[in-house]
Amino acid sequence: MCMIRGEIYDACSTFTQPLSTECIDRSLIAGGSAERAVSTEAVYNYVRERESNARTYADKLDRVIERGSLARVWDSEGREYLDCLSVAGTLALGHNHPIVIEAVLDFIASGQVQQALDLTTPAKYRFLRQLFDVFPADFGATAKVQFCGPSGADATEAAVKLFKTATGRRTVIAFHGAYHGMTAGSLSLTGNLVAKRSVASLMPDTHFLPYPDSYRCPFGLGGEAGVRANLHYLERVLTDPDSGITKPAAVFVEAVQGEGGVIPAPPSWLRGLRELTARLDIPLVLDEIQTGFGRTGTMFAFEEAGIRPDAVLISKAVGGGFPLALVAYDARYDAWSPGAHAGTFRGNQIAMVAGATTISVIRDENLVHAAVAKGKLIGAGLGELADRHPEIGDVRGRGLMWGVEIVDPRLPADALGAHPADGERAAEIGRRCLELGLIVERGGRHGAVLRLLPPLVITEGEVEEMISKLGMALVAKPQGSGRSGR
Ligand SMILES: Cc1ncc(COP(=O)(O)O)c(C=O)c1O
Repeated sequence: MCMIRGEIYDACSTFTQPLSTECIDRSLIAGGSAERAVSTEAVYNYVRERESNARTYADKLDRVIERGSLARVWDSEGREYLDCLSVAGTLALGHNHPIVIEAVLDFIASGQVQQALDLTTPAKYRFLRQLFDVFPADFGATAKVQFCGPSGADATEAAVKLFKTATGRRTVIAFHGAYHGMTAGSLSLTGNLVAKRSVASLMPDTHFLPYPDSYRCPFGLGGEAGVRANLHYLERVLTDPDSGITKPAAVFVEAVQGEGGVIPAPPSWLRGLRELTARLDIPLVLDEIQTGFGRTGTMFAFEEAGIRPDAVLISKAVGGGFPLALVAYDARYDAWSPGAHAGTFRGNQIAMVAGATTISVIRDENLVHAAVAKGKLIGAGLGELADRHPEIGDVRGRGLMWGVEIVDPRLPADALGAHPADGERAAEIGRRCLELGLIVERGGRHGAVLRLLPPLVITEGEVEEMISKLGMALVAKPQGSGRSGR
């Protein structure tokens, strides 16, 4: 064990250095035993040919990503990237944070069990203490948790089952643009049609209501007028005896829609939704899988609105880089019987150790507060880019979760002044960012939103680098300038 540990520490010390060719070649030796080093291209192609057509990130980010340290990764040819994808917003502390690595290594060396189903362990105790310490007091006071299979989607599944069981109702509500996962039940609650089109018979009794999107307001109003119209409509739907929708078991909502295109719900709308659902006795589930643990400038994104949800879906950052997911909910809904949400990998102790350590680093280093300050820098920098580039239709976000919507300014704008989204151009800009050493994500309608999800440990210098590289990518000439038919 000591030898392994020594080797890992040696490797850690080289994280901030470009890799030597020898090191890269060694890591690309096929199967770890063959003598022959293989080329980067061969490695990439081998994997691509064997993986399914459902691959996503790997086709856009067509490099062999080998090492990482905090906000940086290196590919197998030694090129360095500023990683503003962070495993889709998972890595709150970036790659291989030394304190997390040390905690994990100590744990592995300790002889404690590493998988434990839902047994009680010291690691689980420490994790739960940390988790309950960061819940808002009024939520934590009555909260219980169910550990889930280690994906956000399974936390969604668990919450659907919990609230159907507790209320005896069958209907579930989600919002246009929502993303709650890709398993059958969670996909039913997800807005994006691409993944749904070819899958018949998803969960029945799922209904979608409009999300408050000021830039592309579903009511054509925008701002507070759009919020008021939205809440008025929700109330109508949920109280109309002829709406066609029976009283829901739960309403699922993201306080900031991530995959949907980084759309923050105005706090006034969230408060209105909470007031309405509480009045109608409908449980409100906040999906904090992407926004949780400081990303948006509060520990959980719903805290900005000062609301108290009935349940919170938690995954991604909570595992400190290892897979972990859970649903936390008000104990009065705990109508489950034993085994109601069983699953083999609900007791991933390494993830609990890494997660507890991550939460304590976030608190000790005041990273939530820092996310607000860095978010202001990002907002200002992106605002300046938008002033110079008419193809930036909208800039929106909070803390360290930002979206830049790319539009085609040559095409007519709608009544609120928004030009049509331009996913093709967003893809070109994303590609150019990669060439410049900046990894960004794309999402939103038509894939037209460039998404920035850097780790909370990104430095102010790196924030400037991120904005500057995005600026350079924007001035790169569009490949199909004189694109026809548009
Ligand atoms: C808000 C939200 N909910 C649920 C999920 C699903 O999580 P997972 O991909 O771990 O299943 C995601 C993933 O991006 C998410 O962003």
